[in-house]
Amino acid sequence: MDKVTIFDTTLRDGEQAPGYSMNADEKVRMALQLEALGVDVMEAGFAVASPGDFAGVEAISAAVTRPVVACLARALPKDIDAAASALRRARRARIHTFIATSDLHLKCKLRISRADCLSRVKAMVAYARSKCPDVEFSAEDASRTDMDFLCKVMETAIAAGATTVNVPDTVGYSTPEEFGAMIAELVGRVPNIGDATISTHCHDDLGLAVANTLAGIRAGARQAECTIGGIGERAGNAALEEVVMGLRTRHDHYGDIATGIRTDEIAHTAAMLANITGIKIAPNKAIVGANAFAHESGIHQHGVLANARTYEIMTPESVGVKKTELVLGRHSGRHAFAERLAQIGYPSLAEERIDALFAEFKALADSKKTIDERDLVALVEAGYGVKTDPDKVWKLDSFVVNSGDHMSATAQVTLVRGGKKRQEAALGTGPVYAAFAAIERVVRRKFTLEDYQIRAVTERRDALGEVLVKITDKKTGGVFRGRGVSTDIIKGSILALLGALNKIEA
Ligand code: KIV
Ligand code: ZN
Repeated sequence: MDKVTIFDTTLRDGEQAPGYSMNADEKVRMALQLEALGVDVMEAGFAVASPGDFAGVEAISAAVTRPVVACLARALPKDIDAAASALRRARRARIHTFIATSDLHLKCKLRISRADCLSRVKAMVAYARSKCPDVEFSAEDASRTDMDFLCKVMETAIAAGATTVNVPDTVGYSTPEEFGAMIAELVGRVPNIGDATISTHCHDDLGLAVANTLAGIRAGARQAECTIGGIGERAGNAALEEVVMGLRTRHDHYGDIATGIRTDEIAHTAAMLANITGIKIAPNKAIVGANAFAHESGIHQHGVLANARTYEIMTPESVGVKKTELVLGRHSGRHAFAERLAQIGYPSLAEERIDALFAEFKALADSKKTIDERDLVALVEAGYGVKTDPDKVWKLDSFVVNSGDHMSATAQVTLVRGGKKRQEAALGTGPVYAAFAAIERVVRRKFTLEDYQIRAVTERRDALGEVLVKITDKKTGGVFRGRGVSTDIIKGSILALLGALNKIEA
């Protein structure tokens, strides 16, 4: 079987998209899941871009063992030095260097000639190669580059030591026919193409990223760059799960082309990304959306009951979507609870964490009739990433709010840290505003509320409310997210804000 290398750039191109930024801890958590998913290469970041990016690449390099860890670098010595340095601890490292090659970018953005571009490619690929045996070169805006020049660029990059040459459709302009033809032309015209792997990197501005990627693979590309859920700059990148399941489900069309992806980890990986970033998956999203395997209409339900293949071209199990037969209640024991956590994707939680979750679960079971997988995920995710050192974290002791339609809302909040209680009260236009203002006084830290989202985790009136907040710390400018769950939405809001504030402290 032919193998396509899956290069995941969720933590670089994906993370560059608005709303998807992650801190180093969150990136490591995601990276370990990408490793479990079976990606061959993961792009961990763009080390020169910021200290946070550098730290993320360093932390991922130290954390993952099997996949190659790649770091992006412009074709500049300082970028390549930063990439090499951030990748120091990676078991298998790759420097991914790029320069734009279309006339438009050369003239308007870089203000250099084609000849200058070629000499930069030659010198910088060779420089990267002197620092790392695995070098990928990308011709940014390849799909709008003159074909003769693109062939020359790729030949030069390979001669200078590139082991992978990437062909980005940077602005999502190409069509599947054009993109496939471009890859075929590179295969046919670049004399040393056999010394490197051809890669695709397609953006989704016209909704064609996955189609273009698959066309590229048909034409001879053997690396596909993609992201979980297709996140990425503007309209995003090719969705990993769609490329992988496309190849697998339609092997009659694409031939026997394998990937190393453990497809039954797909759903969990997509859910983890949504949980970390707080950005929900659209229900109609292919493969990972909530409706991807739901059958509402009578005709479809009838068909699926008779034979699932009538309306399902792949099984839910093959992508890790499990039917939730879980019902836990107040009589469930800790053992069954821990087993269920492992089954839903949290197999290695610390014993103290399970104890704390079990206590929360028991309290919830008193106020809510049935507890299903969604409730458990919400409980676990609400506590992720928060350090528990009692001297460093603020905990909620108690609160009282008053609100009505003929009065200002008031809140009195008591928090505890390092064994000491502190209480403040404040007014607001509503109870959440008032509670947040009181907390701001208690913690003596100013912040701007960037985003606030609230949703019911499950159906019915006794559902848990899940609150996500995103704040900017006025002192450092850092952005922090917090999540809180409670059957009381004011309490959920307070817990979410404390989660974010405790991340600043940590
Ligand atoms: O879209 C693009 O061209 C890129 C390159 C840096 C590979 O992301
Ligand atoms: Zn890109």
